Amino acid sequence: MRSEILVATTNAHKLREIAQVLGGRVQGVGVRVNENGKTFEANAIKKVKAIKLKPNQIAIADDSGLCVDCLGGKPGVKSARYANPPTPQNLCWKLLRQVRSSELGDRRAHFVCVIAIKYPSGKIETVRGVCRGKIIHEMRGEHGFGYDPIFVPAGYKKTFAEVKPAMKNRLSHRGRALRQLKAVLAKVIE
Ligand code: IMP
Repeated sequence: MRSEILVATTNAHKLREIAQVLGGRVQGVGVRVNENGKTFEANAIKKVKAIKLKPNQIAIADDSGLCVDCLGGKPGVKSARYANPPTPQNLCWKLLRQVRSSELGDRRAHFVCVIAIKYPSGKIETVRGVCRGKIIHEMRGEHGFGYDPIFVPAGYKKTFAEVKPAMKNRLSHRGRALRQLKAVLAKVIE
């Protein structure tokens, strides 16, 4: 029997990036959990546990965020709620302001994506992808979501919001985690 993959997200951007790597067999489902874990792993596991599975289904949940060196790793697990209201523009502006006023002048940052996988047996595994880069001085580009317009991956000049989705997936934390996930799933499902 062909397995279905349920994804714990209502974020259309995340779902599209996931479908690009895993193929069209993914289906988004809304889950309501309090994402108050101290780690990306804890929050991803919390989200995936909230999904009920049928025998031919597997669930995955992504918890991700941006960690900025001069801010001591913030916003980290709080990336989604770092500004009020948390519109993409407010999130980027707040981060740009904070990095500008930081005395350390260090613009290095990295995105993290942890994906938790739940099997019908109830077993849960996680994979982690990281993408290193830096925060630039202004917002650039129209693609993507969240902090994409202010993040340039190491060795590149364009922000995640300036490159095509396929290019972002090649470099990104989520793309890296998804390729690990694909290798794990290839061993267990059709
Ligand atoms: P959560 O995983 O639903 O808690 O949300 C993570 C938050 O981190 C998102 O709402 C974005 O603000 C940010 N984020 C995670 N991944 C990305 C990305 O690929 N690009 C830009 N922002 C991201």
